[in-house]
Amino acid sequence: MTDVTILETPKGWPAILLPRQGAGAKGAAQGSAKATDPTDLDAAVRAGAFEGLRKAVRDLGATATIAAVGASGLRGRGGAGFPAADKWRAASGTPAAGRIVVANGYGADPSSQTDRALLELNPYAVIEGLAIAAFAIGAEEAIIAVRTEATATIRILEAALAAAADAGFVGTNVLGAGRHLDVTVQAVQGAYLLGEETILLKALEGKRGQPEQRPPHPATHGLRGRPTVVHNVQTLAAIPWILVNGAQAYAKIGAEGCPGTILVQVRGGERSGVAEVPLGTTLRNVAALAGPLAKGRTVKALLVGGPSGGILPPEALDTPYTFESLRAAGAHVGSGSVIVADDRACIVDLARVLTRFCADEACGKTIPCRIGTRRLSEIGDRLAAGTSRAGDLGLLADLSADIVGSALCDHERLATLPLMSGMRYFRAELDEHLERSSCPAGVCHPIAMAASATH
Ligand SMILES: Cc1cc2nc3c(=O)[nH]c(=O)nc-3n(C[C@H](O)[C@H](O)[C@H](O)COP(=O)(O)O)c2cc1C
Ligand code: SF4
Repeated sequence: MTDVTILETPKGWPAILLPRQGAGAKGAAQGSAKATDPTDLDAAVRAGAFEGLRKAVRDLGATATIAAVGASGLRGRGGAGFPAADKWRAASGTPAAGRIVVANGYGADPSSQTDRALLELNPYAVIEGLAIAAFAIGAEEAIIAVRTEATATIRILEAALAAAADAGFVGTNVLGAGRHLDVTVQAVQGAYLLGEETILLKALEGKRGQPEQRPPHPATHGLRGRPTVVHNVQTLAAIPWILVNGAQAYAKIGAEGCPGTILVQVRGGERSGVAEVPLGTTLRNVAALAGPLAKGRTVKALLVGGPSGGILPPEALDTPYTFESLRAAGAHVGSGSVIVADDRACIVDLARVLTRFCADEACGKTIPCRIGTRRLSEIGDRLAAGTSRAGDLGLLADLSADIVGSALCDHERLATLPLMSGMRYFRAELDEHLERSSCPAGVCHPIAMAASATH
């Protein structure tokens, strides 16, 4: 049973990824919250599991299945929002044997439990989505990649996979249609960067976790050189719903051009946990899931996207939660993390800690990222320590511009977001640190603590 807390969402919000009643989840507040075993295949089948796979294999065939996913507008939930069907077309159009589907359940952000919640509460949705994707691209091998330390997740997945194989949903002769699908759970051990798809594929090959130059992309040249579709587990879990309810029904949920639902990890209020939200809802609605702030406190900032996320001001609360809107605001969907920081927070301190994390986690293969993120981190440290140099904010902007676009992976660009968004929205606070060696929130030591009396 999972110990992830599922937050209550407003009545009428769609539930595609998580079971409506949050079965087994501590703190589940949707519906009856009746504890059920997520690996109980009979119960899952009674609730409609594997109907989507049946439809793909028996009614649609591979080409129409890919077309349906394309028509739904489903975009990858791993962060970048790439159209799922485009990857499928690239893989199935590559004339190579031994195609593979990889479910990315690594969950790089240690503070976000979105993917873990899905794998532990609704493992059959991920397995079914994986089986449909494999059927559509003609793959006979599929891997669910998770962290080594996610022992509870691994136990649940292995039990679910064994039951699914016994029932003929995976394994030999899937649904009696003559196709084979070998699904394994593979645990990989490593750091933050291992969630990035080319690094994950290297790790699955037992090699050092560093990315490769793209193109070629994994869809045509991936694991062991084979065409490999890598999807976040949430992307896969939406696919059965799409096939059963129809592409048009899915396209109507969420925002135009960004349909469906996504899992968010919300904290900062009186509650913290995972929730399923329709894309396009506002950051205000997402933040509200965490409940009220501590008494007398006001919202100062929202940390959106995880360790390499953006720090947005309260004016951004009406920003729609979509890939494009968050990017334009200086943040990103990332790990689905949304943290509400109240007026006690110091923006310099937040940006400094996040940038340090990003610098420490850079794999080092690309020199501008390896050295640039370190220099960014040092600027953050100087601001917090009251030892800034006159040109530091200009240097910050120049460095960020130089770093972006010269990398093997997106970590380089994302690593600039905490400090750059801090400078964009909270310039006066950064200036206060730089010019007067003063921390208005009274957080940064040993510099002057103007607001310390309020704590
Ligand atoms: C630094 C970094 C970390 C990432 N971590 C994850 C992760 O933990 N899980 C994930 O699904 N995707 C992660 N991604 C995105 C993957 O590289 C890839 O785009 C994704 O797994 C593709 O799935 P999708 O098509 O469903 O979006 C990360 C990307 C970067 C740059
Ligand atoms: S951009 Fe950074 S994290 Fe990505 S490959 Fe280069 S050094 Fe590694």
